[in-house]
Amino acid sequence: MGKVILLDHPLVQHKLTMLRMKETGSKEFRELVTEISTLMGYEVTRDLELEDFEIETPICKTIGKRVSGKKVGIIPILRAGLGMVDGFLNLIPMAKVGHIGLYRDPDTFEPVEYYCKLPKDVHERTLYVLDPMLATGGSTSAAISFLKKAGAKNIKCVNILAAPEGIERVKTDHPDIEIYVVAIDEKLNEDAYIIPGLGDAGDRLFGTK
Ligand code: PRP
Ligand code: URA
Repeated sequence: MGKVILLDHPLVQHKLTMLRMKETGSKEFRELVTEISTLMGYEVTRDLELEDFEIETPICKTIGKRVSGKKVGIIPILRAGLGMVDGFLNLIPMAKVGHIGLYRDPDTFEPVEYYCKLPKDVHERTLYVLDPMLATGGSTSAAISFLKKAGAKNIKCVNILAAPEGIERVKTDHPDIEIYVVAIDEKLNEDAYIIPGLGDAGDRLFGTK
């Protein structure tokens, strides 16, 4: 069954609390999402492979380490996933970025696709699917399905906040995928919003409400 990794570092938890607060405006919200994503990116990339690399310091030759040629892809789910891209690119500036556009149908809460542009060689890359919110899990599960259909073999999900329902959905649909989260909240409300959550992540990031 897919593993869920809870990132409970005090700095991340502190920033999440600020993100939740309704007084937090779009500018600060965006900054916090970037900071949290950078900290998550640090943990999520912990298993990147290293290789030896001969260098010369001002004193002598030595063998250093560098991340081996393994390719990385960052896949934000539009719109809200865009808020997490800079945090990841801060750490992995050479990563390619693919976009998957999905919105939730307001009545069925099922994801509707409107855009998909992926790097050509997804089958060779470690892919990080970014979306701050895992609510019903429909969007993240659909994004993983697109990637698998495109040939992706190594996918990790990175969600800031999750509901138990969303975790179960992704685990059931994709038992091979690891999910990284900062917090798992109580449940969904009747509109499929996470309780207590942080509201609508896309609207808060982009000031559209
Ligand atoms: C939000 C959020 C996720 C999705 C999560 O997107 O950013 O993508 O809902 O819900 P789910 O787990 O139930 O699928 P939304 O559809 O509001 O679009 P937006 O990002 O463009 O605002
Ligand atoms: N999408 C959001 O942005 N927030 C939720 O709580 C659920 C879905």
